[in-house]
Amino acid sequence: MAGTQLITSVLLLLATAIGARSALLVRPEQDCINPSVSKVNDFNFFPNEYRSVISAPAPVAPGATIVDATDFDIKYYDTYKVVNVKRFGKSYVLYQCGTPDPSTLPAGAVEGVTPGMRSFEIPLFSVAVTDTTVNGFLSELNLIDRVALASPYSVGDCFQRLVDTKSQDGCKLVTPDPYFNASDPNGESGFKDANTTMYDGADAVFVGFSGDAAKDVLFT
Ligand SMILES: *[C@@H]1O[C@H](CO)[C@@H](O)[C@H](O)[C@H]1NC(C)=O
Ligand SMILES: *[C@@H]1O[C@H](CO)[C@@H](O)[C@H](O)[C@H]1NC(C)=O
Repeated sequence: MAGTQLITSVLLLLATAIGARSALLVRPEQDCINPSVSKVNDFNFFPNEYRSVISAPAPVAPGATIVDATDFDIKYYDTYKVVNVKRFGKSYVLYQCGTPDPSTLPAGAVEGVTPGMRSFEIPLFSVAVTDTTVNGFLSELNLIDRVALASPYSVGDCFQRLVDTKSQDGCKLVTPDPYFNASDPNGESGFKDANTTMYDGADAVFVGFSGDAAKDVLFT
């Protein structure tokens, strides 16, 4: 009997540990390329009408640099794109869900990708947003359903409902508050635990102008 209980506890612990690592939100099935699309190289993942192109000539040549924005540029390749955020000197590899992660291939094997570039499987589906600057953009793009956790300092109707911790129907989907109560002996540890949970469960964390974790996306 004791043995069974022990096994049950171990299983429960395992379940908790696994649970902590799983995403906070579930990726919708239609996000990813169907494995039956075998000729991936012939599939146009980024047709011109879905590119961030304002004045570039169409069709845009592979690897062409789009220069419509001053603070970033985007290079499009077959199954991925590389976004270079000039303000921070950071490049992000965004690869289509269902295709290989180009950043894991040997150096020099993939065009436009250099070792150390951060990569994200897109579309993102479980993001944490610690910088409220991002909220307005996510609202405009109708992407609030992809927000797993939002800043407690969010304004905006949908975001307030997400983070509302007081009302009965509030979602309590709130990022750890960096202004935790410093005189509370558990303030800092609570913040750190919540931070770990956030990074475990998010596929990207939209931070402000600083942050160097693998899932951080700088945005300001
Ligand atoms: C901060 O924590 C201290 C110690 O636990 C507590 O007495 C105080 O009421 C807290 N302040 C707030 C604003 O929650
Ligand atoms: C939160 O977690 C991330 C990822 O582990 C880490 O890089 C970052 O330093 C943590 N932030 C704080 C304030 O502890």
